[in-house]
Amino acid sequence: MLTRNDIRALVDHHGREILTHEHMQFERTCFQHGAVTTYAHSIRVACLAVYFADRLHLWHHVDLRSLIRAALLHDYFLYDWHAWDNGTHRLHGFTHGHAALANALKDFHLNAVERDSIANHMFPMTPRPPRYLEGYLITMADKISATRETFSMARFSKPELPKPELPKPPRPQRRMKATQ
Ligand SMILES: [Fe+2]
Ligand SMILES: [Fe+2]
Repeated sequence: MLTRNDIRALVDHHGREILTHEHMQFERTCFQHGAVTTYAHSIRVACLAVYFADRLHLWHHVDLRSLIRAALLHDYFLYDWHAWDNGTHRLHGFTHGHAALANALKDFHLNAVERDSIANHMFPMTPRPPRYLEGYLITMADKISATRETFSMARFSKPELPKPELPKPPRPQRRMKATQ
């Protein structure tokens, strides 16, 4: 069984290209849930997805690298969603999977598992289910991480975040046809 340190080392190794990309650094400047930045949330989701794959003995069915990369990019929408849509952000939950995919395709070469898992990670809020097991693991890890982060007491003592620096992230796209 993988330890916490083993899992984090795997995420750092397979996610290095993403974690070190200049646009990914934008995720350090926005809170995602509670006092957790989008960057930290993405790493948590990747670690938890790997944990599930390990504890459920799914390694014969799951591609580790694709699982980690898709998890790290699942919220790569690159804007502060709290301020999105003039603060109403009504549609963010429904559109940001495709916005994340559109941004990710500009910065990385993604395989079919990664593309589908990013685009459909909000299922069942969005109607199309993930096509691959990796996508279900990410969806499950995301829901659990988001719930824990949202209801953490840390939300009442948010740290100061760095201001976004140039270069600016690519402009998010609100709508995009699902990519297989
Ligand atoms: Fe999301
Ligand atoms: Fe998320």
